[in-house]
Amino acid sequence: MTNGREGGIRIAPSVLSADLGRLAEQVRQVVAGGADWLHVDVMDGRFVPNLTFGAGMIEALRKLTDKPLDVHLMVVEPERYIEPFAAAGASVFTFHPEATTHVQRHLAAVRGRGMLAGLALNPGSPLALAAEVIADLDLLLVMAVNPGFGGQTYLPASDDKIRRARELIGAHGSRAFLEVDGGITRQTIAAAHAAGADTFVTGNAVFTSADPGHEVQELRRRCLVTV
Ligand code: DX5
Ligand code: ZN
Repeated sequence: MTNGREGGIRIAPSVLSADLGRLAEQVRQVVAGGADWLHVDVMDGRFVPNLTFGAGMIEALRKLTDKPLDVHLMVVEPERYIEPFAAAGASVFTFHPEATTHVQRHLAAVRGRGMLAGLALNPGSPLALAAEVIADLDLLLVMAVNPGFGGQTYLPASDDKIRRARELIGAHGSRAFLEVDGGITRQTIAAAHAAGADTFVTGNAVFTSADPGHEVQELRRRCLVTV
């Protein structure tokens, strides 16, 4: 995959909110609308209350599109999935430091398996967790909701956290993507972009829309609106 660092923004629709009975059609719609990545929310019923997908979904999506698959693990001991998810075709492997012990080792293992290494921080988790491993990161994910479900409301404090995350990335000369996940809509995306996010996960806003492809275009357009 190209890492997308050529610039601009990335919109990553989350298949968590897709109609799984029409998955192929919905993937086609968002890709036609200009989706850059597809976001895959993996939940284990332990780190978060909900239970979702595994390697089978990654394999299925890999057959449907050549877009990067942005896999977000909300699971305990995410390191157990580095090998199977790489084999299934994951492009980005993002996990939570709150869910494991040897974060730096696992980030290095993700890169070693040819994926981009991402770290996701819950709203209550400090950026210091990422600061300690900034050189090992290809992506920093700021959660704008407490993870577990689609369709939640964007926490307003997220804009300031994104701003501080952007400063952290800049201060270390890192080229990591800065992704925001949760509650991204036409109403919230511009401020998150202005705060410094460059990659936007969006589930409900896109897949509850009558025209998911058009919604992707609209969200991208809203990023360019000055706030
Ligand atoms: C939340 C997930 C998100 C979710 C976003 O636990 O990590 O990726 O799918 O969905 P929306 O955009 O509906 O908040
Ligand atoms: Zn997610």
